[in-house]
Amino acid sequence: MNKYILPVSVFGTVIGTAVLLKNHMTGGRCTSKATITGKTVVITGANTGIGKETARELAKRGGRIIMGCRDMEKCETAAKEIRGKTLNRHVYACKLDLASMKSIREFAEKIKREEQRVDVLINNAGVMRCPAGKTEDGFDMQFGVNHLGHFLLTNLLLDKLKESAPSRVINLASLAHIVGKMDFEDLHSEKKKFDTKQAYCQSKLANVLFTRELAKRLQGTGVTVNAVHPGVVATELGRHTNLHQSQFSTTVLSPFFTLLVKSPELGAQPSVYLAVSEEMEGVTGGYYDVMTEKEPAPEALDEDVARRLWEVSSRLVGLEEEGQLKPPTEVQSRAAQPVLAQTQGQSVGTVGL
Ligand SMILES: NC(=O)c1ccc[n+]([C@@H]2O[C@H](COP(=O)([O-])OP(=O)(O)OC[C@H]3O[C@@H](n4cnc5c(N)ncnc54)[C@H](OP(=O)(O)O)[C@@H]3O)[C@@H](O)[C@H]2O)c1
Repeated sequence: MNKYILPVSVFGTVIGTAVLLKNHMTGGRCTSKATITGKTVVITGANTGIGKETARELAKRGGRIIMGCRDMEKCETAAKEIRGKTLNRHVYACKLDLASMKSIREFAEKIKREEQRVDVLINNAGVMRCPAGKTEDGFDMQFGVNHLGHFLLTNLLLDKLKESAPSRVINLASLAHIVGKMDFEDLHSEKKKFDTKQAYCQSKLANVLFTRELAKRLQGTGVTVNAVHPGVVATELGRHTNLHQSQFSTTVLSPFFTLLVKSPELGAQPSVYLAVSEEMEGVTGGYYDVMTEKEPAPEALDEDVARRLWEVSSRLVGLEEEGQLKPPTEVQSRAAQPVLAQTQGQSVGTVGL
């Protein structure tokens, strides 16, 4: 008997089983059947990956979908495809470059001017482990796009979100936040040697800290905010990493990697769950690993770090000068409470928003 038959069949069985169990192991689907007709959803970075699939699923559920993307050609193509697949006409492509405060402000102005409501804001766009580079305003690219851009956008849309309450903000963070460190002395890696991994992890830690501080500041407004790690998803996120660059990786490793991680469609399920599910009504300040609430890393629970990040971010994006940010009213400190998200006891509509 050929001596290779056994190892080859064992290898094949392992791969086959992994693939079959993949969906189960990676968190499954949002089981809520909630529809969102009459609700408006803004999603950043929606032309590909998790954002595009989130847009498609929420369009299928009847929402009015605003896709905010930096590349209008890609955005129009994705919007057209989603309109065609879901037969929902209300899917719109809109210019938004999170590496430019001017673009963010223009996008927010357009939304405020043209949209009657914003029921869900999904801060999804992200860039991972890109080479050293700066945004238009001189911020480190990963910190600028992943955190500061969404910080500014969210703040500019807060009045609209409050008017539309109960409404929800969802921040795409990452498990990578656990190795992140907020370096307030050098947020843009100008003094230390640039480490692209650390810059990504810092930006994702910032997403969780922002979520928790914003939840505190929004208590009693009917606007909830949660952060989510979507799992490991086969998207274009790794475009700057070795996996996408070396010949060996693309031809040999990449196919296995693709087999073992989630599809973008499954990767969108946690965002959809946080956006529409009835269970998430009034739940705020949480960190979700796929669809299960988890305790984030200790630094993400540090209230002083969260407040400091808020203050520094406000200064950097120029909100402080405009007086747009009022200090939080008497809010309950979440630090002294269990990490599990608390409910705000908001009254809710029929669609789980
Ligand atoms: N995939 C994963 O395994 C994973 C794991 C943990 C967390 N996440 C998070 O999930 C989110 C979505 O990632 P993904 O996996 O779907 O990645 P992706 O396929 O690379 O999609 C990222 C999206 O962000 C957009 N984007 C990047 N820079 C932008 C900018 N300056 N302005 C506006 N849009 C910009 C991209 O636009 P272009 O197409 O024009 O570049 C793209 O639409 C990210 O926040 C990521 O950190 C993903």
